[in-house]
Amino acid sequence: MSKRVLIVGTGSIGERHLRCFQTLPNVEVAACEPNATLAATIAGRYRCTVYPSLDEALASSRFDAAVICTPAHTHISIARRLFEAGLHLLIEKPLAVTEEGIDALRCAASERSGQVIRIAYVQHCNLALLKLRELIAETDLGVPKQITYVGGQHFPTFRPAYREIYYARHESGGGAIQDALTHSVNAVEWLAQSPIVSLFTHADHQVLEGVEVEDTVNLTARLANKALAVFAINQFQAPNEQTYTFHFEKGSLRAENHNRRVGVFRHGDSGWTWYPVAVEDRDGPFIRQAAFFLEATDGKETPLATLDEGIQTLRVNIAALKSARTHQEVTL
Ligand SMILES: NC(=O)c1ccc[n+]([C@@H]2O[C@H](COP(=O)([O-])OP(=O)(O)OC[C@H]3O[C@@H](n4cnc5c(N)ncnc54)[C@H](O)[C@@H]3O)[C@@H](O)[C@H]2O)c1
Repeated sequence: MSKRVLIVGTGSIGERHLRCFQTLPNVEVAACEPNATLAATIAGRYRCTVYPSLDEALASSRFDAAVICTPAHTHISIARRLFEAGLHLLIEKPLAVTEEGIDALRCAASERSGQVIRIAYVQHCNLALLKLRELIAETDLGVPKQITYVGGQHFPTFRPAYREIYYARHESGGGAIQDALTHSVNAVEWLAQSPIVSLFTHADHQVLEGVEVEDTVNLTARLANKALAVFAINQFQAPNEQTYTFHFEKGSLRAENHNRRVGVFRHGDSGWTWYPVAVEDRDGPFIRQAAFFLEATDGKETPLATLDEGIQTLRVNIAALKSARTHQEVTL
């Protein structure tokens, strides 16, 4: 039987989710979007129904699942409403901008085990990180001792409208910490299978025109498994690069997303052994994420971020902003 999926918000990422869900078999996709011009464009481009509001969508049709693609400060109220209406949820990152309403959503989720909530940290569907995760499990190098993430891209190239959208303000989920760094923080917590327990952040606005939020971040953290992690990111550099390195007592693992390769370097080796990772277009990981999400709604195990993992990374975002503001280490 086909599944009915509602895309809530058809801005940049909502349109991508809509398109990616439409590629899957046995899925019917509809959307809701309050911007009438955009709603008409999307309805025409994808030949689907676009409702002007959640109320009208829920009153007009039955849905099995929803993907929440609105700015982050609206996620929790929309999620609670849709979860109470019985829908499975895929919620865009970051889960929220404060912890308000989180406990109630968590309680509701624990009471209804047949309904799933997953957070759309799409790095969980990136082939390079899936390969790195496989190598962490298979190579028997032990517990990671030091983890580094170095990454960045020229954000104005990828999101020319950055000044006019949620990105311009912390309150709506903007700035490098909540918008970009959150992906790699969540990926490291997922890959290390251990949450960040304390951190210190340096963050500044340095280059991006027309906004005041930070575009450059250095964050150093301690994980519950005692690994020390460091993240360095900016949103103005020319190269679009992301490198994750995990150093263990017995060797190192590295994922170079931009070079589509993952490597192993054990003590005693003379160099890296590289495994190639398939090149795919930007929709590739999102189509995989959509498929995993539908599998999760059928009760299957998937690598997608759980609600608890999304809450943990939200707490890291909040702590990182606090540390940057106060110039103090923050314990979670
Ligand atoms: N995973 C990724 O790679 C990725 C990329 C971009 C954005 N995001 C995240 O996705 C979310 C949305 O980002 P975006 O870039 O698409 O923003 P956007 O501003 O382009 O689009 C948001 C859309 O939501 C609509 N909207 C607002 N309130 C609504 C409501 N109550 N009901 C229905 N629609 C509503 C707006 O009209 C707008 O069209 C953010 O949380 C952002 O962090 C994730």
